[in-house]
Amino acid sequence: MRTYQGGRTFAEEKDQQDVLAHLREHFYTKENQIYMDGNSLGLCSKDAEAAVLRALEDWKTHGINIWTGAETNYFLYHDVIGAKIARLIHAEPEEVTVCGNTTMNVHQCIATFWQPTEEKYRIVIDALNFPTDRYAVTSQIASRGMDPEQVLKVVESRDGKTLDEEDLIAAMTEDVALVLLPSVLYRSAQLLDMKRLTKAAHARGILIGFDLCHSIGNIDHDFADIDCDFALWCNYKYLSGGPGAIAGLYINRRHFGRGPGLAGWWGNRKDTQFELRDGFEPAGNAGGWQTGTGSVLSLAGVDGALNVYDGVEMTQVREKSLDLTAYLMYLIDTELAGYGFTIGNPREDAVRGGHVALEHPEAARINEALKVAGVVPDFRYPNVIRLAPVPLYVRYVDVYDLVGILKTIMDTEAYMAYENKAGTVA
Ligand SMILES: Cc1ncc(COP(=O)(O)O)c(C=O)c1O
Repeated sequence: MRTYQGGRTFAEEKDQQDVLAHLREHFYTKENQIYMDGNSLGLCSKDAEAAVLRALEDWKTHGINIWTGAETNYFLYHDVIGAKIARLIHAEPEEVTVCGNTTMNVHQCIATFWQPTEEKYRIVIDALNFPTDRYAVTSQIASRGMDPEQVLKVVESRDGKTLDEEDLIAAMTEDVALVLLPSVLYRSAQLLDMKRLTKAAHARGILIGFDLCHSIGNIDHDFADIDCDFALWCNYKYLSGGPGAIAGLYINRRHFGRGPGLAGWWGNRKDTQFELRDGFEPAGNAGGWQTGTGSVLSLAGVDGALNVYDGVEMTQVREKSLDLTAYLMYLIDTELAGYGFTIGNPREDAVRGGHVALEHPEAARINEALKVAGVVPDFRYPNVIRLAPVPLYVRYVDVYDLVGILKTIMDTEAYMAYENKAGTVA
C-alpha cells in the first residue's frame, strides 16, 4: 500500500531514498525545466550521444570498413542491440531485432503472420490504438485485393477511454486469424493483460501481436511468459533512443521457420548475404525480418540509450514509475480538487502504464500555460494532458513542483491567455 504526504520535504525524502536516482545524471536535463513528455520523445542521454559520436568517428576513420572491421563490426549491430533489448522484456536474444519504424514493422508483421483462408481471415484491432497501426493493417488488407471493411473487426471502447478485455476475447471468433493490440493505450495509459489475451487467442487458433510503443523500457514485460507471436515498438519514447530512432521487433522463436512477409537482403543469412545469391535465405533469428541497411547513426543512439539500463532491473524501473505516477495522482486529488480536473487513466497498478492522463475541458490552453511555466507536457485532442514522469530522469520533487505550477495556473487563470486549441506536435 503506497502512502504519500503533502509538502516538498516529503518529495525530497523520496528522492533521497530512490535507488534509481543516480540515473538522472546520465541525461541532459535542464535546471528550470520539468520534462513530462518522455512518452513522446525521451530525453537525450550522454550514453546515446557518446555512441552516436563514436559511430560518426568510426565512419570517419574506417569508411567502408565500418561494417566488418574487427573494431567496429556494425554489420551485426542489430543483433547486438536486439540482445540488449531482449533482456528488458525477458525474451531470448535471437527473438529481438531493431529495424525500420513502428509502422513499417506493423506492415512486416501483418505481411508475415496474416495468412487468410476462406474460413479464417479476419483481423481484430481496437478502436483506441494509435491510428498508424490501423492505417498499416488496412493497407495490407487492400494490397491483397481484399475489402478492409470485411476483414477488420474493430473492438469499440465502452467508455471511450479503455478497452474491456472481455470484449476483446469475445471478438476472437472462429473467423479470426490475427489480433493486433497495444500493450498500453497511448491516451488513457490502460495496460492490457497480454498474457491473458495471448492465451485466449491461442486457444482459438489465432495469432496475436502487440504494439509496445508505450511500454518498452518502462514496463517489466516477461515475454517468455506472455508467449505472444510478435511485437513491435518505437525506441524513442521511454527508451530514449533518439528522435525517429530505429524501431524494435520481437518474433517468437517458434515462427523463425516462417520467414518474413517482406523480404530484403539485410534479412538474409549473414554468412551468405554478400554472395548476393538469387534466392533469399532468411537468417535463422529475428534478424531474418530485417529488410534493407539500417541507419548506423540511429542504431547507435538506441545502443547508447540502452547502456543506461546496465545494472538496472526492469522491476525497479516499473516500481518507480508506478510510485511516481501514484504520487502524481495523490497530489492531483489533494491539491487540485475543485479545479475541474479528472484522471482519465485506470487507478489500479496492474492495469496502468507510465503516464497520467489528466483531463480538463480547457486542457489545450492549460497545456500551453504549463509550457510557458517551464513544464514539458503533452496534449492529446480533445481534452487530455499526458504527464509521464519517466523513472530514469524524473524526480519526486519534479512531480511536486509540477502540481504546484498547475495550481498556480488555475488560481491565476493564466491559461486564459491562450486559445483552447492544440499545437502541431504535442
Ligand atoms: C502506439 C503507437 N504506435 C505507433 C506510433 C508511431 O509509429 P512510428 O514510430 O512508425 O511513427 C506511436 C507514436 O506515438 C504510438 O504511440
